[in-house]
Amino acid sequence: MTREELIGINAGIVRSVSSNLIEHSPNVIIIVVSNPMDTMAYLVHKSTNLPKNRIIGMGGALDSARFKYRLSEALGCPASDVNGMVIGGHSDKGMLPLIEKAVRNSVPVSEFLSEERMAQVVEDTKVGGATLTGLLGTSAWYAPGAAVSALVQAIGCDQKKMFPCSALLEGEFGLSDISIGVPCILGANGIEKIVEIELSASEKAKLIESAEGVRKTNGLLEVNA
Ligand code: 2OP
Repeated sequence: MTREELIGINAGIVRSVSSNLIEHSPNVIIIVVSNPMDTMAYLVHKSTNLPKNRIIGMGGALDSARFKYRLSEALGCPASDVNGMVIGGHSDKGMLPLIEKAVRNSVPVSEFLSEERMAQVVEDTKVGGATLTGLLGTSAWYAPGAAVSALVQAIGCDQKKMFPCSALLEGEFGLSDISIGVPCILGANGIEKIVEIELSASEKAKLIESAEGVRKTNGLLEVNA
């Protein structure tokens, strides 16, 4: 089966599941997990009339957990000692681990790690999903489930927690008409705010490049629509 055919099948399922969800639960908040996730989240935006705060793509929370694990491995410390976020598209090529902003208990990780080691952490993070898929012989399920559960808890308990989520952008980060991973505050209303953090020139360029990749995949949807 070609990638285009697979996307067509997933798109059909995503359309039908979202329209059923809305029919039976008009106040639904949809968390999209199906891959290619940013494109499937975009499809839900395009094929439903739900307000944009009620459609959330899950990818960044999972990729960030893998990033924190890789950072803790490099630093030789518990993952609870580090913080870091992955934005951009949920794909090996598209994701953007924000290594310049990653910290160990508020100290930049660059204080502890060489440029080479940080580059390795970024590369290992980016292939996290593919590495697991190779090892398991199927897609990961535990880590995606744990990430979805963290998002559901933030919404259900109105926690106002920040996660990178695939959100529909309307000018934020200079991007429009695309769903892609950016920092979001999650609460009872779903995505309550997109946080437009300051990005370095290099981070901005990578996010734009990532968006181009997501747009290309979104283009396949029209073919299959
Ligand atoms: C993951 O990142 C394959 O998207 C899935 O584990």
